[in-house]
Amino acid sequence: MSDTASTSIAPLPLAPNAAETSPARTKAFVKSYGCQMNVYDAERMTDLLAGRGYGEAASEDDADLVVLNTCHIREKATDKVYSELGRLARLKSERGAEGRDFRIVVAGCVAQAEGVEVLRRQRAVDLVVGPQSYHRLDELLTRAEAGERIAETDFAVADKFAALRRAPIPRGVTAFVTAQEGCDKFCSFCVVPYTRGAEVSRSVAEIVAEAEALAAAGVREITIIGQNVNAYRGEDENGAPATLPRLLARLSRIEGVTRLRYTTSHPIDMDQELIDAHASLPMLAPFVHLPVQSGSNRVLRAMNRRHDADFYLDIVARLRAARPDIALSSDFIVGFPGETDADFEATLALIRAVGFASSFSFKYSPRPGTPGAERDDQIAEDVKSERLAALQALLEQQRQAFNAATVGRTVETLFEKPGRHGGQIAGKSPYMQAVHASGGPELIGSILPVTIVAAGSNSLAGTIGEPMREGAL
Ligand code: SAH
Ligand code: SF4
Ligand code: F3S
Repeated sequence: MSDTASTSIAPLPLAPNAAETSPARTKAFVKSYGCQMNVYDAERMTDLLAGRGYGEAASEDDADLVVLNTCHIREKATDKVYSELGRLARLKSERGAEGRDFRIVVAGCVAQAEGVEVLRRQRAVDLVVGPQSYHRLDELLTRAEAGERIAETDFAVADKFAALRRAPIPRGVTAFVTAQEGCDKFCSFCVVPYTRGAEVSRSVAEIVAEAEALAAAGVREITIIGQNVNAYRGEDENGAPATLPRLLARLSRIEGVTRLRYTTSHPIDMDQELIDAHASLPMLAPFVHLPVQSGSNRVLRAMNRRHDADFYLDIVARLRAARPDIALSSDFIVGFPGETDADFEATLALIRAVGFASSFSFKYSPRPGTPGAERDDQIAEDVKSERLAALQALLEQQRQAFNAATVGRTVETLFEKPGRHGGQIAGKSPYMQAVHASGGPELIGSILPVTIVAAGSNSLAGTIGEPMREGAL
């Protein structure tokens, strides 16, 4: 995997008459895959493209420029990019035949990992830009429009944060704000340290300024994001390193912000100060996404996770002591090389011991350049599939039980959008559950107590009561 490069390869001949007849700088479509960080980056790229005169297209078919903001985390994610690029290449040649311009940009983690290879593999791609270089999109597009084919995969994170300081355009009442990027953990299955680089934190002042701008524009819930968000060590107002709980405390004082979340945390950085914040900050949602990956100490060691199952269970116990109603979610990988039936049973035992509100689970996918992929004790696909099905059945049972236990309770719901049916309004509980109730769009942005009357498979139905306390969950 190349970590830094700006490579240019010979341009493709332009479509006949493209330059004369194409309606330049019209609409762009940014399609995002992968994690919250990619969602955030996609929005920033959309903002940058708006500055260049591009409106937002509803789909690829409606666009003059398509950005695929890609994910490299599992093989399937990467394969999807190339099949999508094939489709876009056909669209580009159709447009070319009509004398119209169509540009294809590949951004995100596949761009970072494969760089110039993307240009070689798919000749229709105009520009490849990694996640730490996309703040230069404007300049890179100008060069691409002049006929250069560029792969820009420089790790210029600090420059990126500085360039993104411009107030983002809010899209609704909830928003992500990046606090930290990159990963120094090097779990042996994972590509993220290679695609996102070393851990870098933004300053408190930068994050606060972004959050204040969002709040002034109507955002009520802010999720602080980072690949290892609880490893956050940004500079505070006095130039000293601040921790995530201190950042959250600072953000809780911003007028208009009524709910805070953070994701994703690594167990090893889950210190007591952060756990205590769940007791001392009422607006910090009682929900923590804390990936564990496996319940087997042997597998956790092989994964280079730096914690064992007991360490994880102890964090859960301390979180529950700080905030008894706290709900947990996690990520699991089944079929890591060498995983035995007994190892897998240990994962099921950990799940039973914790009781998760929701979770993500995956079959191990060997990734090029990671130590796990080199191992010669890979697990057969059918074993992985069987284990995943058993794991998901247990997690689904827990999710349904968690939702059913909400029935009869009153949960503070932040309303985000109109519901699926007329006269309905939809939002989220503090525990990330989708909630709908009767109500009009004037309630969007309000946090109201909702008494849950029924739990469906994917959402809760409730009735709205009177607000109880200001600024609370
Ligand atoms: N700390 C990160 C994790 C990113 S990857 C964060 O910010 O969320 C998200 C999840 O993908 C991981 O927790 C892990 O469960 C899964 N994952 C990562 N690499 C994988 C691989 N090679 N195969 C299967 N799942 C993987
Ligand atoms: Fe990947 Fe591990 Fe870093 Fe998360 S902590 S991004 S799983 S290497
Ligand atoms: Fe995927 Fe990159 Fe996020 S690999 S999960 S988009 S950090």
